Amino acid sequence: MAYETILTEVKGRVGVITLNRPKALNALNSQLIEELNLALDDYERNPDIGCIVLTGSEKAFAAGADIKEMSVLEYPQIYLDDFFAQADRIGQRRKPLIAAVAGYALGGGCELALMCDFIYAGDNARFGQPEINLGVLPGIGGTQRLTRALGKAKAMEMCLTGRQMDAKEAETAGLVAQVFPVGQLLEETLKAANTIAEKSLPSTMMTKEAINRVFETSLAEGVRFERRIFHAIFATHDQKEGMNAFVEKRKPDFKHQ
Ligand code: CAA
Repeated sequence: MAYETILTEVKGRVGVITLNRPKALNALNSQLIEELNLALDDYERNPDIGCIVLTGSEKAFAAGADIKEMSVLEYPQIYLDDFFAQADRIGQRRKPLIAAVAGYALGGGCELALMCDFIYAGDNARFGQPEINLGVLPGIGGTQRLTRALGKAKAMEMCLTGRQMDAKEAETAGLVAQVFPVGQLLEETLKAANTIAEKSLPSTMMTKEAINRVFETSLAEGVRFERRIFHAIFATHDQKEGMNAFVEKRKPDFKHQ
């Protein structure tokens, strides 16, 4: 499918999506959000894809929601249209999704990265929620996900002052999993994505589902949920293959089912 605001490329079992509105620093307009969802739908449906990587350019992962598009919106139409509801779908994907963030990840760009399962950052990455400077507030989950990722003190400070956080601080604070020299970011992300994609797909999807349950429920319910799907995974081919391969001292041949 031909897209205008993103690029897609399949590398082995990894589906890569590159945000591609360079003149607007990859600002997220409605078309980009729609195309991103279509590309994600495509990778989710494709049984030969085991992991998805979302990235931008070296200068900007995404500099936010498109301010020019939003500046003309009015209430109640924005409410009636449920503006940004489509963006929520990005965070509801079931296959592992890694953000490779170089440069600016501001506003909706930071929120987009936070919707991914983990973030790898280039050493030039800058994270921030500058909506406060525009007289608004984060609108794609930033107040919720940033607080879960960083804790209240740093999330409040960032959202209320609009200050940016560099890659080193973001790693120390637990917002990003690892930082790499920006020139190596994509290569390192693809390495991790390949590692994930080679595992059994039911086990990576169930692991993702169980970890995300942390944010929705109590510890006892979460452990119960984990136990139920741990029991269920014994119905898969790959559980038998993975354990037999260990016992027989050979590499498993996963069928992703
Ligand atoms: N929306 C629309 N266009 C944007 C944009 C955005 N979020 N961010 C950058 N652009 C455009 C600029 O308008 C400019 O276009 P023109 O050449 O046509 O003027 C082009 O991208 C390049 O940007 P700059 O000239 O500003 O580049 P810079 O290197 O000097 O500065 C920057 C980079 C600091 C990231 C600056 O562009 C900036 O502050 N951008 C806005 C950041 C922001 O406020 N993001 C939050 C948006 S609101 C939001 O996201 C709400 C939400 O929660 C969903």
